[in-house]
Amino acid sequence: MSRSILIINGPNLNLLGTREPHIYGSTTLAEVEKAAHEQAKALGVSVLAIQSNHEGELVDAIHAACRPDLFPSAKLIPDSTASSSSPRRPVDAVIINAGAFTHTSVAIRDALNGVDVPFIEVHVSNVHAREEFRHKSFLADKAVAVICGLGTYGYTAALEYAAKHLKLREKR
Ligand code: DQA
Repeated sequence: MSRSILIINGPNLNLLGTREPHIYGSTTLAEVEKAAHEQAKALGVSVLAIQSNHEGELVDAIHAACRPDLFPSAKLIPDSTASSSSPRRPVDAVIINAGAFTHTSVAIRDALNGVDVPFIEVHVSNVHAREEFRHKSFLADKAVAVICGLGTYGYTAALEYAAKHLKLREKR
């Protein structure tokens, strides 16, 4: 059975491609998600991609995707690119760019830890080369890895690692 990976994008990441292009580049979120689906196919995993500007929606989506046994009828934020809406099996890993919530959200930290899912934190920009408030992450110490400053290639790197890591786990 193929492993599944949830890609979460938080607030303002729906503006990728037009938002501060000198910092975030010109690739849109739709392009990132399309590339992730193609990459996933090649890697033999499945991907679900969601984006929300609302903290509570992100928490609900983490619960619904990682513990469908507890929330069988919970709706995920609609996945913009996948054909199926809500996965019946729990996702095996999460790739998350929580945007500004990275620096503020105890709730998203608690949600990821509460469902005990391995996750990779991604940032398009190098947050450590920017304002000091961006240096603090509420997620980083619980993440399998943190990728920042590679532009949207960070999602590609995270997905490749997650797929390979999960395959290794599967073989054990
Ligand atoms: C970001 C960095 C955050 O500080 C910022 O609030 C974002 C995007 C990034 O991808 O570089 O919204 O997560």
